[in-house]
Amino acid sequence: MPDSCPPRAFATTQVQAGHAPTAPHSPAVPAIYQSNAFEFPSLSDARDRFALRQEGDIYSRAANPTVAVFEERMAALEGGVAAAGVASGQAAVALALLALARTGDHIVAASQLYGGTVDLLGDTFAGWGIDVTFVDQDDPDAWTAAVRPATKAFFAESVTNPLAQVLDTAMVAERAHAAGVPLVIDNTVATPYLQRVKDHGADIAVHSATKFVGGHGSALGGVVVDLGTFDFAADPAKWPQLSEPYARVPGGGLLERFGAKAFITLVKTKYSHDLGPSLSAMGAFQLLQGLETLDLRMTRHSSSAAAVAAFLDADPRVAAVHHPSLASSPWHANAQRYLPRGAASVFSFDLPATGDTEADFARAERLIQALQVVRLVANIGDARTLIAHPASMTHSHMTPEQLADSGIAWTTLRLSVGLEDPADLIADLDAALDVL
Ligand SMILES: Cc1ncc(COP(=O)(O)O)c(C=O)c1O
Repeated sequence: MPDSCPPRAFATTQVQAGHAPTAPHSPAVPAIYQSNAFEFPSLSDARDRFALRQEGDIYSRAANPTVAVFEERMAALEGGVAAAGVASGQAAVALALLALARTGDHIVAASQLYGGTVDLLGDTFAGWGIDVTFVDQDDPDAWTAAVRPATKAFFAESVTNPLAQVLDTAMVAERAHAAGVPLVIDNTVATPYLQRVKDHGADIAVHSATKFVGGHGSALGGVVVDLGTFDFAADPAKWPQLSEPYARVPGGGLLERFGAKAFITLVKTKYSHDLGPSLSAMGAFQLLQGLETLDLRMTRHSSSAAAVAAFLDADPRVAAVHHPSLASSPWHANAQRYLPRGAASVFSFDLPATGDTEADFARAERLIQALQVVRLVANIGDARTLIAHPASMTHSHMTPEQLADSGIAWTTLRLSVGLEDPADLIADLDAALDVL
């Protein structure tokens, strides 16, 4: 979209941003550029493209025209300045944080994170000499107390999984900025339709596009979006990777050469290029197909989840329901503030506990075996409604203490409410609860 165009509404942006049909074929839908590499008009053009003096395609590990449409559309939906599409959400989190924190640096992260991110930060990053302090995301002073001179980022999820805790994004942003570091938010569960994290002070958004962005459970992908709010140039000594001459591309530092796009240029030309977790053209195409209906799907996901949560909450066969649409939820006020279009469709409920882990597991298994519409699958954000048992599946490597700290019992079950008729979902759960 030319700079002179007024910003478009969300529904228009999700369908059109990043794609303008071009001759000779003018495809209405973005084309799939299924080519590993691209021919140069001349050796001089090749030299200029390699030196980043000229825009243009080189090799699909670094950039691909179909992926570029996806990147531009996600940047527009999040209100950002640039984006990098990658192979998975895990790659998005890893690359965004590696571009900020190097060996000897430090990150402050919420302890209520997706398990794969806990593994990445607490194990792999620790092994690379990047220290991470995990804090209770609801405790403002814990964020500030964890800050060190080497701290380079704050990291949290806008809505957590499996308990659907809604982050006080503005509070954490304020603490991050007081410490002189950007706030990176994993916005996977909310998506920019339920929450534009930039509006609440976040600086970088990351997504597992595998989930609601694609929405059909048929393509893995991730994206890093620079929201353009953090001024890396204000403290150049703190960000040598952006301010000092960039050895692999002659002609000065990235901030000097690419301004607002410096951070994403670093993500792409160093971390995506060197580590190789690139998004394929076919993957980007599938994610774009999903994006076209994001607002419609999220509205249905949210309203169905609220209906299922209300049913479970009123049912005496259920011990507890962790959904922020319920007035009893500690995160109800945050949901009203940050998720006015609808709360999360990923949430958990607890069956009554027996006091014995094996008996609790057996009870959860009996319920899952009885379900006929809801499916036992380790994923979220699918068109299908999925159930998981965190203690034996996604969180199975946690110690009993870590599980207790995370509020996960052996009777906790996670739902990701899909796009089926909510009456069928409620009837399915209702029948299954009878077998307990
Ligand atoms: C909140 C969140 N972030 C990141 C990821 C990792 O995404 P992916 O599976 O696409 O690598 C997940 C996966 O479940 C997730 O739930």
